Amino acid sequence: MQHAKTAAQARPASHLFYQTSGRRPLIDRAEGIYIWDAQGRRYIDGSSGSMVCNIGHGNARVLAAMQEQMARATIAYRLHFENEPAEELARELSALMPAGLDRVFFCSGGSEAVESCLKLARQYAVAIGEAERYKVISRFPSYHGCTLGALAVTGYTPLTSPFAPMLRAMPSIPAPTCYRDRDDLDMHARGLRYADMLEARILEEGPETVLAFIMEPIGGASTGALVAPDSYYPRIREICDRYGILLIHDEVLSGAGRSGRYLAGEHWSARPDLIALSKGLAAGYSPLGAMVAARAITAPVLAAGGFAHGHTYAGNPLACSAGRAVLHELQTQDLLGNAEHVGTYLRQQLESLMDRFSFIGDVRGKGLLLAFEMVADRASWATLPPELNAYQRVVDLAYERGLIVYCRRTRGGLAGDHILVCPPLIITREQVDELMALLVDTLAAFAREAGLE
Ligand SMILES: Cc1ncc(COP(=O)(O)O)c(C=O)c1O
Repeated sequence: MQHAKTAAQARPASHLFYQTSGRRPLIDRAEGIYIWDAQGRRYIDGSSGSMVCNIGHGNARVLAAMQEQMARATIAYRLHFENEPAEELARELSALMPAGLDRVFFCSGGSEAVESCLKLARQYAVAIGEAERYKVISRFPSYHGCTLGALAVTGYTPLTSPFAPMLRAMPSIPAPTCYRDRDDLDMHARGLRYADMLEARILEEGPETVLAFIMEPIGGASTGALVAPDSYYPRIREICDRYGILLIHDEVLSGAGRSGRYLAGEHWSARPDLIALSKGLAAGYSPLGAMVAARAITAPVLAAGGFAHGHTYAGNPLACSAGRAVLHELQTQDLLGNAEHVGTYLRQQLESLMDRFSFIGDVRGKGLLLAFEMVADRASWATLPPELNAYQRVVDLAYERGLIVYCRRTRGGLAGDHILVCPPLIITREQVDELMALLVDTLAAFAREAGLE
């Protein structure tokens, strides 16, 4: 790392700006689960970037498909031309969605996909004569994107608080962190209890004002792969149906195969009305997002004059050609099967860390959407002292060892520490062993440094 830092410092001052004070090395190339920096150092991409590169880096078939499309047309503005990659990808995606969800709107990322869901939901309510509905209930913690609309339904305090006066305040309910609850209820009952908080909130707000409920079927960065008890999912659907509220699944991170199913909601046969997709959809080969909507929702909106929303790059042929080729890889290489099988193995390995490191409180997730949470005390779930910055330290120590993992704070961004371990879905068991060796070394170094041995 010293070596990499020196190389980074030797580079000319950057005109780019971002949040971090330090500079990371320049990337040189990437292939499979590995990335090399400009100094020739190799890293295991243990988080697929930000849980994006599901099919691994440098896939020659995807690059060839993109090159073929690039030679034909890289842009086709939708008011001037239709394009085949967008048409075909929409058809192929529709075949993978729950029954009735077969209308697709493409965009360029996750925040745009979420914004699209929020705006279509609103236009639907207006179109069917329920214009008083505008509130979107979300969960805390959660992450739905950084644009102002998506941020208004995001529950992660450091990201939302600077913008609070600019945001339309939206109601929220606690995310189902049942694993931390200390009561006599079993998980089934706890799942129902958290779902019923939605009903209580709807009644408090006035059901006629509530437009939608947005949730990540498996949590992403903000909760660290939070999975609710099985009882939660059908109860949420029942409650939404009871009050005529649309259910939006944000599958930006959990979708496109990461959990071992194309949609994470499939683990519970969930039936949302709107789905946001991005990240793994084109797996980092091109910026691409999508909203998939039930035809019953798009029809009244179209009849009322159309969706008053759009982006210049919506349905971009190059991005959609990447999306098609990525989907083809998922299907022909059985990457969902690999995510499930190798994910089970990786999960066992992560769970075994709990014997060695007492500060690992929980391991959770599905498929290759996995995370572990670090705590001061497993019995009370007390967090590690926030000033220890455990989440960031573990990431940095791993980076020094050539392993990339992803971190966030568990309790809404202010305290709590979790690490996401989400390698590309092509990872083999042998590569999991390689990743784990680096992770064990990282955690041992962290334990020594933090005095947690
Ligand atoms: C669940 C979820 N929704 C939305 C987003 C926003 O996506 P993007 O960063 O592509 O705008 C993210 C990004 O991390 C996400 O994890």
